[in-house]
Amino acid sequence: MAFSEQVIDQVQQASDIVDVVSSYVPLKRAGRNYKALCPFHHEKTPSFMVNPDKQIFHCFGCGVGGDVFSFVMKHEQMGFPEALRHLADRARICLPEASDTTPEARSLNERLYQIYALASEFYHTRLTNPALGEQARSYLAKRSFDLEAVKTFQLGFAPPEWRALLQMLTKKGFRDEELLRSGLIVRSVQGEAYDLFRNRIIFPIMNAQGKLIAFGGRVLGDETPKYLNSPETSIFKKRKELYALHLAKRFISAPGAIRRVLITEGYLDCIRLYMSGFQNVVASLGTSLTEEHVRNLKRYADEAIVIFDPDPAGEQASLRSLDLFLEEGMAVKVLSLPQGIDPDDFVRARGPEAMKPLIEESQDFFDFKLRVLLARYNRSDSLGLLKVTGEFLDSISKIKNAVLVDRYLKRLSANLGVEETSLRSELKKLKQKQTSLRFTKPAGSQVGQTSDKEGPFENILLSLLLNEPMHLTVFQEMFPHFVFSSEKANKVLHLLGQMAHEEALSRHSASKLLNRVRDPELKNYVSNLLVREWGSARDRDRAFHDCMERLRKGERSEQLKALRHQISQAEKTGDEKLVLQYVREYQGLLGKG
Ligand code: UTP
Ligand code: MN
Repeated sequence: MAFSEQVIDQVQQASDIVDVVSSYVPLKRAGRNYKALCPFHHEKTPSFMVNPDKQIFHCFGCGVGGDVFSFVMKHEQMGFPEALRHLADRARICLPEASDTTPEARSLNERLYQIYALASEFYHTRLTNPALGEQARSYLAKRSFDLEAVKTFQLGFAPPEWRALLQMLTKKGFRDEELLRSGLIVRSVQGEAYDLFRNRIIFPIMNAQGKLIAFGGRVLGDETPKYLNSPETSIFKKRKELYALHLAKRFISAPGAIRRVLITEGYLDCIRLYMSGFQNVVASLGTSLTEEHVRNLKRYADEAIVIFDPDPAGEQASLRSLDLFLEEGMAVKVLSLPQGIDPDDFVRARGPEAMKPLIEESQDFFDFKLRVLLARYNRSDSLGLLKVTGEFLDSISKIKNAVLVDRYLKRLSANLGVEETSLRSELKKLKQKQTSLRFTKPAGSQVGQTSDKEGPFENILLSLLLNEPMHLTVFQEMFPHFVFSSEKANKVLHLLGQMAHEEALSRHSASKLLNRVRDPELKNYVSNLLVREWGSARDRDRAFHDCMERLRKGERSEQLKALRHQISQAEKTGDEKLVLQYVREYQGLLGKG
């Protein structure tokens, strides 16, 4: 039986590790941590630590560690599902049934659909009701969304009362468990049920077939969180669904048109564009684009235009999503709006006519990536040039169509003034490296061991990455292909990367990460890295800087080695021009201490 990450996170957040552990062993405060005699091995002086910030425990005596789940599993001799249930009961959280193949589950899905349909009608009526919906309607009017938009998108309003929806649904005969499972009703710590959405504009979310599967809700003012989504359920997976796809699909693949889809970030951006005549538009649901999104879109569209904010975060998100499209073999372009202006603002301020040329002029993958990379690195120094070509080739290596690869290599060569043949040979090397990475599995005996030489350094680096989301971003940027010598470390880095990709890494990331680690040995390893005390943020920055410096030097010596090899190859073939080019690069690289 598998539970969704969402549920696991919810239970974890409701189960403070200090609370839970201290119901088994007496804890004593020691600085930022708590200490105790380890319940898992015999000892006279306490080496068992609990860290409340990171919600983890670790014993320096016996090496056992993990999050609140692993503690309960170990102490109660339970499996993970039992531990989850145990903690959920303790926190009075009602767990959904995970399997969706049984008849009960199927009828449960039916009940979910019924609840959502009734809720949607309820919210919509509240918005359109002359008296009750006045405040919400005037908010929408203030933002220039008219009744037609409200109708087309079935927008609604969740009233400010605590139990309006609950009462309506109870009257219709739904039981509390079902309602809690829908996520539209939640339960307080005291065990009282109430409405999830209160005083919010409601955006019903449909799947591509037009079936209602979730809701988003926006506050009327500037309270936080600005947007709230109903939780993932057996019928709603954020990683796959796109807002408004059920409406957009017929415009995307209208006969005679380019099968093109516009992708925005926000519900209201999407609604604005749709209502302004750009009906081939969808929005991602508060997550960055995933492979599943792209596959879902590919069924309807041949080309995507991604509209992201032109700030560094948006740019980074665009770069990432470009590769997803390339991998799936879908053409992709990026539309850049003026800084700080989203599609909704833009169309409101300048009118739909101003949007048209932007769509036509949106940059294809090649131009966009080149612009971003050239702004980031200096191509006149050789290291910068290597960065630009390296990252570019990385994207190109994902393209399966040989004709396209050929075209891009020619353009890259012309733009950077680098011989096409060198680009080709670099691309070949990169592909070989990727294949060998994919196929070399570590020998069984090596799992769990770090090499003596790299171990401490790599553990320090990984611990820093775990501790500081910003460091992770910088690291991935600087060393996108880095591979640890220990397989354990690679697994952790991979998970961390996945999480960072799905959502901006938040404070809870450390414990969320532990949730995703099932292997007990790996769990011990992560908790050990997490309990490391890094003192001040400045200490962390300094340590991180040292790590990056060391990696950069390592990378440089690798590059020098590669260049030496290339020089000798070129000398063999007698290509004087190429020799000269490599020698220059070599000298340039040497000059950069
Ligand atoms: P933005 O913060 O860019 O807001 O979030 P917006 O779409 O421009 O909204 P308005 O114009 O202020 O109303 C973009 C998208 O990110 C998700 C939502 O899907 C939102 O539409 N988001 C944002 C959340 O999920 N939660 C938040 O707290 C904020
Ligand atoms: Mn906006």
